[in-house]
Amino acid sequence: MTICYFTATGNSLYVARRLGGELKSIPQLMRETSIQIQDDAVGIVCPVYCGEMPKMVCAFLEKSKIETEYFFFVYTYGMADTVARPNAELAARKAGLKLGYSASIRMVDNYLPGFEMQNQIETAGEKKIEEQIEQVCREIAERRENTVKLTSAKRAEMALVHNTMGRAILKSSAAQDYIVSDDCIRCGICAKVCPANNIIVTDRVRFSDYCEVCYACVHNCPKNAIHLKNERSAARFRNEHVELKDILSANE
Ligand SMILES: Cc1cc2nc3c(=O)[nH]c(=O)nc-3n(C[C@H](O)[C@H](O)[C@H](O)COP(=O)(O)O)c2cc1C
Repeated sequence: MTICYFTATGNSLYVARRLGGELKSIPQLMRETSIQIQDDAVGIVCPVYCGEMPKMVCAFLEKSKIETEYFFFVYTYGMADTVARPNAELAARKAGLKLGYSASIRMVDNYLPGFEMQNQIETAGEKKIEEQIEQVCREIAERRENTVKLTSAKRAEMALVHNTMGRAILKSSAAQDYIVSDDCIRCGICAKVCPANNIIVTDRVRFSDYCEVCYACVHNCPKNAIHLKNERSAARFRNEHVELKDILSANE
């Protein structure tokens, strides 16, 4: 089994590890000229962003040639997965793949403009994360199938989410909305954890135009020196089972 994953704060990496198999980082695969993956089972694990998959995961599906008998998608999310599973169904179809199984696992929400992070961390127990992961692991091990019907009502809902929620959030989190404080020691970790190679650190931290809006730079800064203009608090998050070095080796 091969698992291709995208992560900013470790939730998806932790789930990918729990599923087992050979793990491949999507940001690293995307730096290759062509991507070919062949295995009895191939899965994608990634966060929900604005009700959908991250832009890079969508581009990954378009670029890759995946050959498998069992293709699955597991999302991690915090509050509402809205149209994420239908979005995976549609993206899989466009890539010529049959989506055999999809699931969403509710975990800590790392969306800084929406949530007070310390509160998210402290209330994580209520989400019964381990139970959810165990169930998904079991279902995938059994090669369980489930279907997401793309009815016209569902397609309309997907378009609505994409055109309103998605665009609104991504616009409000454009690169110019990052503030780097005087606590910055120019260690370069922000550039290394950025899955999109969007950050350059010289005498200051500079953001380009390819931001995935994943907040890896913000959450993983060892000096907590990167802030969003619209963040709810300065508290930060990384999955308790994942270390900074794991995010570095996933995205560098
Ligand atoms: C820009 C952005 C948008 C997000 N949108 C959603 C969303 O629509 N619904 C949701 O439940 N969680 C949303 N989240 C939260 C993440 O999906 C969630 O915290 C995820 O588990 C993070 O995965 P990671 O730790 O692997 O990066 C969003 C996070 C970010 C940064």
